[in-house]
Amino acid sequence: MSTLREHIEALRNQIEALTANNAEEVEALRIRFLSKKGEITNLFNEFKTVSNDEKRELGQLLNQLKNNTQERINHLRDTFAGVQRQADKEDLTRTPEPIALGTRHPLMIVRNEIIDIFSHIGFTVAEGPEVEDDWHVFSSLNFAPEHPARDMQDTFFIEKDHDDVTKDVLLRTHTSSVQTRVMTSQKPPIRVLCPGRVYRNEAISARAHCFFHQVEGLYVDKNVSFADLKQALMYFAKEMFGDDTKIRLRPSYFPFTEPSAEMDISCNICRGEGCAFCKGSGWVEILGCGMVDPNVLEACGIDSKEYTGYAFGMGVERITNLKYRVKDLRLFSENDIRFLQQFQSC
Ligand code: PHE
Repeated sequence: MSTLREHIEALRNQIEALTANNAEEVEALRIRFLSKKGEITNLFNEFKTVSNDEKRELGQLLNQLKNNTQERINHLRDTFAGVQRQADKEDLTRTPEPIALGTRHPLMIVRNEIIDIFSHIGFTVAEGPEVEDDWHVFSSLNFAPEHPARDMQDTFFIEKDHDDVTKDVLLRTHTSSVQTRVMTSQKPPIRVLCPGRVYRNEAISARAHCFFHQVEGLYVDKNVSFADLKQALMYFAKEMFGDDTKIRLRPSYFPFTEPSAEMDISCNICRGEGCAFCKGSGWVEILGCGMVDPNVLEACGIDSKEYTGYAFGMGVERITNLKYRVKDLRLFSENDIRFLQQFQSC
């Protein structure tokens, strides 16, 4: 009974399971198995004593074991050689480069601030699609069929049907469309803010862009009055621009509010004294507002005899300009890191 066969068998299992943690351990394995006095070399000595009829088979097994061992050790050595090469190239003990942190976009900083201020008086955020149908942007909001805002000059149409406006698909021109979506899906009391990007077909310049951002607000409940609107807006202006800020409301017109107004704040640059920014008037316009037109409430399925509401809408770019004096609107969408980094500490 040859014990060589058993030795080969035992070693084969060991070899298959060989592992090492570094190049030195691989070398130790090579010495243990394949050096002149190694375990496999020893088996070759044993082989000399094997009977002739077993020589052929055991010889093959032994050679196979030797080759497998060599392969296994080569493989382990390669693994660590790779690590070694990588380590030679890079100094892993070096202090890493600092990772540049991103900054919030100034429009997002201001948008969040507006939302934060109104959230303290019960407003929550509602969002809706930028690609809208005519009904949500115009018809439900009491725009007459021939209103100029529907004109190709002002609105980006995705589909325009010249005979039937109800088939039109367009980029929303204001986020009042989200107010419509909320009024048709929720019951009063409703108190929402609708922030988002809006599009108008304007030539791009320092003072106008084909897209900008709005935050609009809507409050619908029993007995909501113009005094409530004024109170909410005064609170907002003082929170946003400082306690000594004054507001004034000028009569205006929007199809979806009646009465409508535009709100000015005392110029926060000259504190109302009159400067180039406010063109000497001491006042700057910041938003449009009014009482929701009963036609709009009815179009959205809300009983206008039971409920009233107010709405307001402001451009985030405008508020940002007032806070940070950004002179050119285009800077907001150019992604110039030198501009954006200035808002790092905000
Ligand atoms: N939707 C108006 C605009 O885009 C703003 C507005 C909202 C005015 C709500 C009044 C009431 O200019």
